[in-house]
Amino acid sequence: MIIASNFKTNHTSTSTLQYVKELSSFLQKEDLKKHQVYVFPPATAFNFFELPHNLKIGAQNAYPVISGSFTGEIGLEQLSEYNIKSIIIGHSERRHILNESNELILKKFEFFKENRFDIIYCIGEPKEIRDKGLDAVIEYNFAQLDGIDLNYERLIVAYEPVWAIGTGVSATLEQIDQTLTSLRKKVKASLLYGGSVKVENTKDILSIKNCDGVLVGTASWDVENFKQMVKIAHEL
Ligand code: PGA
Repeated sequence: MIIASNFKTNHTSTSTLQYVKELSSFLQKEDLKKHQVYVFPPATAFNFFELPHNLKIGAQNAYPVISGSFTGEIGLEQLSEYNIKSIIIGHSERRHILNESNELILKKFEFFKENRFDIIYCIGEPKEIRDKGLDAVIEYNFAQLDGIDLNYERLIVAYEPVWAIGTGVSATLEQIDQTLTSLRKKVKASLLYGGSVKVENTKDILSIKNCDGVLVGTASWDVENFKQMVKIAHEL
């Protein structure tokens, strides 16, 4: 199972250090080693962490360059300093709040693929598409995969319906199941679900047939909650 935490614009460098320390010692327990855990802190919290092999620190975003003149952005050089080799691309908050274009998203994908990053590539429909029914949902999500190399061996696809992110209202188990089943026909990579995953619904979501893990925002910002989710994954 893959259990990933997206801090978004939360936590400081100090609190992230504490979080990662706590999580690392938890993951080092022998029997938790088979799960892959990711934490995506803000870039200001990157650090020279001592990590167990099943915990990776990733970037929530970066610009597809080694270095250069892109005010406010970070590139490969800044990530490499901290040995960061995982990235989230296409998150709905970047698509919809930061107005990131498909073109830029594809550029990022190509660049970080060339640099052998683990890529959590996010897709997901807005509410008005969900309201049109499953066919519209599938068409929309498939379109977001256009141009993405689905054979890239470090690809992870996260299905995150926009209307379920940060709202406290997760997609229903049936909606997740139907969508992941359709995606599975096209995508060999691991499939995650994200959108209001909490300790209380982690078990049911991870029990869905084509669900290989979860990408968690809000509920993961408390390390005790996140540890609980990893534990649930392990107990399945
Ligand atoms: P959420 O965020 O868990 O707060 O809904 C999920 C995400 O954005 O990945």
